[in-house]
Amino acid sequence: MSTSRRTVLAATAAAGLAATTLGTATQAQASSRPSHTPSKEYFGTLDDGTKVYVWTVANGGTRLQVLSYGGIIHRLETADRHGRRANVALGFDNLADYVAKSPYFGGLIGRYGNRIAGGKFTLDGTTYQLPLNDTTTSLHGGTKGFDKVPWNVAPYTKGSETGLVLTRTSPDGEMGYPGNLKVKVTYALTARGEWRIDYEATTDKATVVNLTNHTYYNLSGEGTGSIYDHTLELAASRYTPVNSALIPTGELAKVAGTPFDFRRTKVIGADIRKANQQLLYGKGIDHNWALDKGITQTPEYALTLSDPASGRVMKIHTTEPGLQFYSGNFLDGTLVGTSGHIYRQGDALCLETQHFPDSPNQSNFPSTVLRPGQTYRTTTLHTFSTR
Ligand code: BGC
Repeated sequence: MSTSRRTVLAATAAAGLAATTLGTATQAQASSRPSHTPSKEYFGTLDDGTKVYVWTVANGGTRLQVLSYGGIIHRLETADRHGRRANVALGFDNLADYVAKSPYFGGLIGRYGNRIAGGKFTLDGTTYQLPLNDTTTSLHGGTKGFDKVPWNVAPYTKGSETGLVLTRTSPDGEMGYPGNLKVKVTYALTARGEWRIDYEATTDKATVVNLTNHTYYNLSGEGTGSIYDHTLELAASRYTPVNSALIPTGELAKVAGTPFDFRRTKVIGADIRKANQQLLYGKGIDHNWALDKGITQTPEYALTLSDPASGRVMKIHTTEPGLQFYSGNFLDGTLVGTSGHIYRQGDALCLETQHFPDSPNQSNFPSTVLRPGQTYRTTTLHTFSTR
């Protein structure tokens, strides 16, 4: 068998089709297209009359539901070790709660993921003031970030991959940030059921950009309780300690000998109650790790999250240098989630691939400046399997 024919059959088998029923390579190629094309349904209407849709994308055993409001990952369904599918992402079952109460569930975060000290930065001699929405800091793009605005959504299918392209131009001065920023975010599902996010942005004035996704994962299933029994391996020898406002001190501290050492697979709850000043500041884990691989042109290994109960395993590869691991510390029993269960502290965790928080004010961190003529491009790949 030729290599190309083997590749076609492998892709076809991965797409869940019986290779034995295929005659020629041409037939195989045609059949390797996803069996499902993205579809949309009405989800709700915003106060200004904008209709919001929920899009469904499925491929290779993974099913994703995305809102046209905030680019929100509404549901993410994967199979457990027995092949049973469950939604592993926290959310709400209605638009009103997403608008009024969401702690960024599943949101597309921009223009700047995580905190900027004093909501202020200086670029090329001009100081920009952003809205303060988290004590003395500007968090996740300000009071009305990318997770709280409507996006244009276009479905696509390309070869064996299918997904959604979200676009929006953030106007000059929106939330205090300079430049008209043209943003394009692709949510792709591959034939193997991998979920890939490609971020792209261009600007007409120098600005800062740090886009990420804020999905809250619970691999046992949304609404099933705590993630403290999940295990995590994180390929990072250093992290960025914070002050009491959760702004990095600027130090790239070694994780060795601290609760932040996940270089070898560790149960998430193992050290979370250790009397450690950093854990007190975050009310648990709410920190950025400097991934050992640094910035890369193509996605490289960052972490493995695993749930012994369901057998679900998620790996993340990314081009980004940082990872904000947030252990759901501020979930306080006041929100009712998608399946009608109350969310409590530690019921999910976020794994936000990004540049480091407060980079615009920290000259020793990798730069988040984007200038006219440059294209911001980052990619994060989530792969799902079971053990
Ligand atoms: C931040 C947390 C914050 C959470 C959502 C995380 O990315 O680091 O401090 O509470 O997002 O609200």
